[in-house]
Amino acid sequence: MSKSLFILLLFFITMPILLDSSSPDDSPASKSASPSHSSSSSSPSIVTASWNHLFPLLTSLSKELPKPNDAESEIRLPSRNQKSWKSCPAQDPKLNFRPVIGILSHPGDGASGRLSNSTNASYIAASYVKFVESAGARVIPLIYNEPSDVLFKKLDLVNGVLFTGGWAKSGLYYDVANQIFKEVLKRNDAGDHFPLYAICLGFELLTMIISEDKNILESFNATDQASTLEFMKNAIIEGTVFQRFPPELLKKLSTDCLIMQNHKYGISPERLQSNKRLSSFFKLLTTCTDADDKTYVSTVQANEFPVTAFQWHPEKNAFEWGLPMIPHSEEAVQVTQHVANYFVSEARKSRNRPPSKLVLDNLIYNYSPTFCGKAGKGYDEVYIFSDSSRL
Ligand SMILES: *[C@@H]1O[C@H](CO)[C@@H](O)[C@H](O)[C@H]1NC(C)=O
Ligand SMILES: *[C@@H]1O[C@H](CO)[C@@H](O)[C@H](O)[C@H]1NC(C)=O
Ligand SMILES: *[C@@H]1O[C@H](CO)[C@@H](O)[C@H](O)[C@H]1NC(C)=O
Repeated sequence: MSKSLFILLLFFITMPILLDSSSPDDSPASKSASPSHSSSSSSPSIVTASWNHLFPLLTSLSKELPKPNDAESEIRLPSRNQKSWKSCPAQDPKLNFRPVIGILSHPGDGASGRLSNSTNASYIAASYVKFVESAGARVIPLIYNEPSDVLFKKLDLVNGVLFTGGWAKSGLYYDVANQIFKEVLKRNDAGDHFPLYAICLGFELLTMIISEDKNILESFNATDQASTLEFMKNAIIEGTVFQRFPPELLKKLSTDCLIMQNHKYGISPERLQSNKRLSSFFKLLTTCTDADDKTYVSTVQANEFPVTAFQWHPEKNAFEWGLPMIPHSEEAVQVTQHVANYFVSEARKSRNRPPSKLVLDNLIYNYSPTFCGKAGKGYDEVYIFSDSSRL
């Protein structure tokens, strides 16, 4: 409590006592000396009188209050308590507590030209950025159509990569995704732990790249649809994105609609398992059913690599509002959080420790997101990369 507050409080506590006791001014003599005083005008004089009596008492009290210097020497601040300070263990030197994730941008402006018609514009929906940030990492945009040497140097600045949703399955975008995927495998083979999350279109691209079959995808009817996740009977969740889900929530994934789907393509479990390349690379964790009751693969985890692919959208539950079927319940938001946490926990295992100046120069904070919720294409905010977009 501050000194002045203490004095004020003391004043109000002692007031009634002083008013009760007879003061010299309250004596009949003083009353007769000023007979014209009405009762209403007499109260201020009583207050003044009590204050005059109280004042010496208060000043003497305040002298006994500890001075700031005394207080400081008597109160033990936590930072001065050596024991508790020492009890914080050193951070695990094997982990990287400043992880950075590269997110590959997708052709267009994310709003069918409503925000930018620049022929070489590309975008990243801000929900993917927030998803990564919410789990304790920062983001560097990997701008798919920037000069290849610039783009691939940025992989030296990150501890993992995310492929987003979208529609582009050919041309430069496909080639760049393919090259980055091969680089991810190379880095892991060389001994770094370098995770990749591939979401929706990302899932479809990996399916095409790994199978080396551009026609492997099948049509599904799962646009703007909430769904459950069906776990494979023999699925081992240890070492996967689901390993640290609370058991209750894990159970609810297969009973409640906590998962957002928004795709027209996919692959059936039969087709994935009958493709040697895909079935040896991935283990199948979950499937889902589309609006026409057709089953498609929804989550896969690489056997030998920290690579997870989702046909669904873990980032939307917490961060997108444009599509009516996105689940926003507390549990649905927890799904977003657990999936993000697993990704960044994997990225913390990366030994890549880039120079911080280079990281700052390339962070997504060098760009501003654009509000596009009103453009009505399903994203609330997007980062758009074109020639003039850098701050
Ligand atoms: C892009 O072009 C379309 C079609 O001409 C037009 O309707 C739209 O307003 C343009 N967008 C911007 C941001 O200028
Ligand atoms: C974008 O396109 C314009 C012309 O359309 C070109 O001059 C410019 O170099 C391109 N920028 C990038 C980053 O490719
Ligand atoms: C997809 O499912 C919806 C809802 O059941 C249905 O109305 C629609 O006809 C289906 N679309 C196709 C292309 O099958």
